[in-house]
Amino acid sequence: MRKIFFIGYMGSGKTTIGRRFAEQANLQFVDLDLFIENRYHKTIRDIFSEKGEDGFREIERKALCEVVEFENVLISTGGGTPCFFNNMEIMNNAGTTVYLKTTEEELTDRLDVCKQNRPLIKDKTKEEIYLYVKENLEKREVFYNQASVIINTKRLLTLDDVDLVVNNLKNTLNIK
Ligand code: S3P
Repeated sequence: MRKIFFIGYMGSGKTTIGRRFAEQANLQFVDLDLFIENRYHKTIRDIFSEKGEDGFREIERKALCEVVEFENVLISTGGGTPCFFNNMEIMNNAGTTVYLKTTEEELTDRLDVCKQNRPLIKDKTKEEIYLYVKENLEKREVFYNQASVIINTKRLLTLDDVDLVVNNLKNTLNIK
């Protein structure tokens, strides 16, 4: 029975790599944000504007406690999931946590072109995103670095780039 959690900053490739990895490793793929949106029939953006970040974190925690019970699954978490309550401990006790590590520069480039659905950065300029990521990543890495496995996701331009990361990770986790 396998239970893998992908953690990492917004834009680190958790969903892109996670989907591909799950497909190749015969695991069910669960995106925690999508799970929340389907459960509450609301977008993450709407939940943030109606309940604020604190309200979202409560909902996120409840959702994590639900999906943690699934088996043979790869769960792609939200960028903030490991950094609130004892979520990181819950994930480490339940399965294998994998931190997808990326530089601030790379994250900024990726996030600047897909910020609309991300309430924490949607109104920021590219320079503001860079400063925010730099400061915030340092705080979050205290949690991310508690992962069982850390992998680099520097270059993710093509499907080959994604497959390279997927294959490396499959080897590390001893998955055929
Ligand atoms: C968040 C990341 C988002 C989403 C929410 C908050 C964060 O998920 O959960 O907007 O605090 O970093 P992604 O990491 O999938 O963008």
